Amino acid sequence: MKTFSIAVLEGDGIGPEITREAVKVLRAIEPIAGVSFDLRFAPFGGQAWFDHGTSFPAETMAICDASDAILKGPIGLGTEASRRIPVNEQPERAGLLPMRKRYNTYANFRPVYLPPELCHFSPLRKERIPNGIDIMMIRELVGGLYFGEKEEGRNEAGGRYVKETLEYTALQIRRILHTGFQEARKRKGLLHSVHKSNVLLSSVLWNEVVDEVAPEYPDVRVEHIIVDAAATALVLRPETFDVMVMENMFGDILSDLAGGILGSLGLMPSACVGTEKSYYEPSHGSAPDIAGRGTANPYSMIGSVALMLEKSFEMDDAARRVWDALRAVFAAGHVTADLAAPEERGKALGTAAFGDLVVAALKS
Ligand code: IPM
Ligand code: MN
Repeated sequence: MKTFSIAVLEGDGIGPEITREAVKVLRAIEPIAGVSFDLRFAPFGGQAWFDHGTSFPAETMAICDASDAILKGPIGLGTEASRRIPVNEQPERAGLLPMRKRYNTYANFRPVYLPPELCHFSPLRKERIPNGIDIMMIRELVGGLYFGEKEEGRNEAGGRYVKETLEYTALQIRRILHTGFQEARKRKGLLHSVHKSNVLLSSVLWNEVVDEVAPEYPDVRVEHIIVDAAATALVLRPETFDVMVMENMFGDILSDLAGGILGSLGLMPSACVGTEKSYYEPSHGSAPDIAGRGTANPYSMIGSVALMLEKSFEMDDAARRVWDALRAVFAAGHVTADLAAPEERGKALGTAAFGDLVVAALKS
C-alpha cells in the first residue's frame, strides 16, 4: 500500500479545531483510496514561540523537510499576545515567510468557487451571479515587497522613516506566468494578468515578460487588467474572470476580496506549490476571537486537503470526492456560523459536526 507522509502544523487560534476536521477527512480517504497517510504533528506559529522560543522550531523544520507535503493551519495570535513577541520573531515574519522561502513555494493557488446552488452565501445579488463564481487566483508567493530589503532609521530632520523594497526578476515573473498560462489552458483558455504598470516599474517588466511568454500559449487569450480596476470588476462582474495571475501583494489583497464575494474567507483554501515541496493552508487568519468555541468553518482546511491530494499525491479522484462532499453538506441546507444570516446563526453547524457530515458524505 502506498504511504504518504504529511507534516501537520495545527497553528494558532482556530487552527487546531479546523485541523482536527481535516485529519478526519484524511483518515476517511485512506480506505476509500487504498493509501495510508503518515501524519507527523509539529508546533508552528505564535504558540510555538511561547512554548519553544521560536515560531518555526528546528524539529518542525526537520519534520517538514522529511515529509511529502505539509498541511498547515492558520497562524497568528490576538493583538495582546502578539505584542509580547518581538516584531522580528512574530509568526508571520519568522514562521510563515521563512517557510515559503525554504520550500520556494512560489505558486499560490487560491480557488474562488461558489456553485450556483450556494449563491445565497454571496453578498452579491443572485441575478448578478446566475452561474455562481468560479475563478482561480494565482499569486506569486516568494517575491515582491514581502521579501524585499528593509531599512529603518531617522532622516536628516530627525523624523523616523522606513524603506521597503519591491524587487522582481524576470525569471521570477516568468515562472509564475507559466503557472498561470498552464492553468488557463486546463480551464477556459482565458488568463487575466493583473498589474499596475501605469505606476510601478515592476509591472512594466511584468507586462514585458507576459509578451514574451504568451506566444508559447497561442490557445490562451490574455487580458491585461490594472489591479485597482480588477478589484471593482471582481465585485461587479466576477464572471469576467477565469484564471488571474498576479504578484505577491496584489494577490494577498485581491484574494481576501474574493473571499468577500463568496461570503466568507472560510471558503478559501489554498495550495502553495514549490519546486520540490508544497504546503497547503487556508487563505484566512487564525481568528483568535472565536478560537476554542467549536464554531469555526473547517471548509478552507478540508479544501486544502483536497488540493494536497490533487497537487502533491496525484489523487484526483479522491480530491474530487472531497470537493463533492464539502458541497453536498452545504447543498443539503446546512450552514456554518460565518455564512449564516443573523437569524439563522442559532442553527449553524459547529466545526466538528460539519467535519462529521463531510466524512458521512464521503462514505456514501
Ligand atoms: C495570507 C496571509 C499572509 C500573507 C500573512 C499571514 C503573512 O495574509 O496567506 O494571505 O500576507 O501572505
Ligand atoms: Mn492574506
